[in-house]
Formats: sequence, structure tokens, C-alpha cells
Amino acid sequence: MTSVKDRVLIFDTTLRDGEQSPGASMNLEEKLKIALLLEEMGVDVIEAGFPISSNGDFEAVRRIAETVKTSTVAGLARAAKGDIDRAAEALTRARRKRIHTFISTSPLHMKFKLQMEPEQVHQAVIDSIAHARRYTDDVEWSPEDGSRTEHDFLCRCVESAIKAGARTINIPDTVGYAVPAEFGQLIAMLRNRVPNIDQAVISVHCHNDLGLAVANSLAAVQAGARQVECTINGLGERAGNAALEEIVMALRTRPDFMPFSTGVRTELITKASRLVSTITGFVVQPNKAIVGANAFAHESGIHQDGVLKNAQTYEIMTPESVGLTRSKIVLGKLSGRAAFKAKLRDLGLELGDNALQEAFRRFKDLADRKRHVYDEDIVALVDDGLGRANDRIRFVSLMVVCGSTGPQTADLALTVDGESRAIQASGQGPVDATFNAIKALFPHEAKLLLYQVHAVTEGTDAQAQVTVRMEEAGKSVIGQASDVDTLVASARAYVHALNKLLVKRQKQAPAAISA
Ligand code: KIV
Ligand code: ZN
Repeated sequence: MTSVKDRVLIFDTTLRDGEQSPGASMNLEEKLKIALLLEEMGVDVIEAGFPISSNGDFEAVRRIAETVKTSTVAGLARAAKGDIDRAAEALTRARRKRIHTFISTSPLHMKFKLQMEPEQVHQAVIDSIAHARRYTDDVEWSPEDGSRTEHDFLCRCVESAIKAGARTINIPDTVGYAVPAEFGQLIAMLRNRVPNIDQAVISVHCHNDLGLAVANSLAAVQAGARQVECTINGLGERAGNAALEEIVMALRTRPDFMPFSTGVRTELITKASRLVSTITGFVVQPNKAIVGANAFAHESGIHQDGVLKNAQTYEIMTPESVGLTRSKIVLGKLSGRAAFKAKLRDLGLELGDNALQEAFRRFKDLADRKRHVYDEDIVALVDDGLGRANDRIRFVSLMVVCGSTGPQTADLALTVDGESRAIQASGQGPVDATFNAIKALFPHEAKLLLYQVHAVTEGTDAQAQVTVRMEEAGKSVIGQASDVDTLVASARAYVHALNKLLVKRQKQAPAAISA
């Protein structure tokens, strides 16, 4: 049986540090959906946002705090009363709340970023934690750029933070500079030198600039850390944060070497990875550990032969353990509602009645145009409908003329707030013509930053999944859609992004603050 000492707490920061990835912004409904899945997975702490940074973040933390029941909900705050008050206000209705406050402690950050003397920073640590403790006993403190902080000063700040009431001390490798042996030694050093360290849980928060975030986190666990901060798919600032799925599966797969457990239901990992990828539009690389499309695929004959004889020859964990089912049902145009529902269940996709109705309609439409409907098609189809019920602009139809002779034109019909609009536009190629038609029907200043197409499955009748990133007034959004017709998918992805920008426009957003 695992004792409390062997339990590693999982602190997920997909909704806060993950959302800080350029272009990964999520709306409230999307954040809530992710938070509920994280809770179902058994994540111990969900960092829901940085309430002072924008009204949108405040509202997201507030809604998640009042909805989530079992996980602790955390809100981030700098070492400033206003930040802490705002975080506390957003967390008011949380059943379990945590205020996570931070300040930089490295010489570089103190001098150039904060322009504060070490003594002032030390005092701010004490004052901020004491202030946060007025709202909750569960206060976490982070010395930003901790891995590049002088050891004497780090020990002094950590000791004072615990005295002031911090129950969790989180050591960030903010710029992903540390290497595993060194980071493990840093944690061991704190355990040896800080006299009251046993009164707090040591946590780590590693960035992936050198591709070492997971390795550093695991080295820290072996040295005594008992909370790991991570994100689904390793989403996060720059090269990202430590990937939750990799941390959890490494601990589960190698108990012989790392005898620690987490409370995560690993069977929900694939579902969480897909949800985050769909919402953010960040495609998971095929060879990504645990959740990449090839993570359990065996191409070479020798490997296939080995796996057929005994899966353990080339599989160190089962696909089922991360929620991948080897489903036997193949859908086609004759499949009915019951088979479709069974397939959704197999894939771990749960839909409400209306969404199910709409997904089934789209499935029938797809099956008419495509001989085999694969699992990936179903996932793309369901993802496509996610959170689009309130869209103001809706795609109706598209007819494109293209080829090597003559101008390329697009005849497009949309509805905008229920009103039908149609136009013909031309352009430098069919995609340009299609996007020009959208611009003519719904004039806007947003800039297209990325246009990306990938095939959902193999074959010439495969669906194209199109991702666009658009920016308006400093805010960027991702739009996604899939269809067997690449141009229809392109138009729908563009419309999806425009709808997200419209939602963003309505929000009042004070300047973003980086952490
Ligand atoms: O990377 C970092 O230092 C952070 C802190 C706010 C914990 O995200
Ligand atoms: Zn971070």
C-alpha cells in the first residue's frame, strides 16, 4: 500500500501556464470543459488562471471554482495585495481553494525585471504570504527563476515563506535551464538546509526549453519533491511545461525505480490530450510520448511480429492504460445510431442529446461521401462541433472554380446572426478566393497568421483537418474544421476563428501580465 510519503500530487496548470502559449487562448466554456475532465481524471490541484490578468481569466477562475468539487482550485497572484485580493475573490466559492503567489528571486530577475533589492523581495515574500493567509490556509509560494537563484538567498526566502504560512513551496525552473542531476541536488539541498522544510510540501515546476522538463521533474521527485506542476500535452510558455501524461505514466510504468503513485486515472489521458489539442488547435506531434498518434503504432515487420506474439516485446505500457481502445466496430453508411453511440463510448467521447443528434447527422453525411469512417474521422467530426452552438457566423455552402486556366472563384453563402448572405469572390487560388468571399460577407481587420492542412486518415478520400490562427488587436485565436473537401474545411475553420474573435471582442481585457 502507498503511504502519504509516496504519493506525488499532480498540479495541472494547462489553464494558466498552458494558456500562456502564444495562440493557445481558450474561452470560458472550453476552460470549464477541460477543468471538469481534469477533475474526473483525479488531478489534485487545477490552476485555473491568473485572475488579475484579465476579466476573462477572473471569470474563468470564478466559474471553475464554483463548479469543481473534488480537486483544489488554484488562482495565481504576484506578490501584491491587489493580485491576491482578486485571486481570493475569484476563488470565493471554491470547495477547496489555493492562492499561488510568486515573486522572482534570481539576481537577474530582481535587478532587471523587478528592480528591487533582495531585502525588499524577502519582505515582499513574507507580506504576500501573510496577506494570502487571511483568505485561506492553502497558500503556495514560488520563487520565480528559482533554479537560477543563489542558494543562500533561496534557503532564506523558503524558510521565511514557510514561517509566514506557505504550505507548499514550489521551485520553478522558469527558463528551462536546469539539468536533471543539478535540479535533483537543488531539491536535496533545500531539504538539508531549510530547518522548517518538513512543514511544507515541496513542488516543482519545470519548463522544457532544453527538452528536460519531465526528466528534471522526476529527478526532483526522487530527491523529495511531492508535487509536480505540469500541463496536458506539455502545453506552456515557449517550449512548454512538463507533460502531465509523461510524468504520470513514467511513475506508473517504473515503480521499481520510482516507487511513487499519483491519483490520476490514466485511462482518461488520451481523452484529455485530444480535448486540449482540439480546443487550442495545437496539433500533437505524431511521435510524442504517450499521446502521439504513433506512440503505440508498430510499422516494421519484426516489431509487428513480436507484438502479435506478446505485446510486451515492444510495448512498455498498454494502449488501454492511457485510454486507447482497439475498437472492433468499423462504421460505414449503413451504421445506425446505436453503433454510432457505441463507437463514441469506445472512444471516450460523451455528448449531450443535442450534440449527439448533430454529430450523428454529420456522421451520416460523411459516410455518404467516404467508404470507411475511421475512429480518427469520428474524433475530428465530434471536435468540430465542440462549443459552436452560439456561433454568430455560420457556414452554409461553397462552390469553388479552380484549376490551371482562368481565374479562381468562390461562391459562398453564410448566415450572420441568422441573416443569409451570399457572394462570389475571386483570388490567387481557391483558398484565397474562399477567404476573400468570407471577408466580403463579413468585413473584418483580423490577420491570418497560420493556415495549416493535415489529412485525418490515409487515402484520397481522407478528411482534411484545417487549422487557422488569426489575430485582431493583439489577440489571437485558433479555428479548426474538418471535411472531405479541403476548401469547405478551410472556409469552416476560418469562420470558426472569426466567431472566437467576436467572443473575444466582447470581453473587456486589461493588459495581460506575464508570469
Ligand atoms: O515558470 C514559472 O516560474 C511560473 C511561476 C509563476 C510558477 O510559471
Ligand atoms: Zn511557468
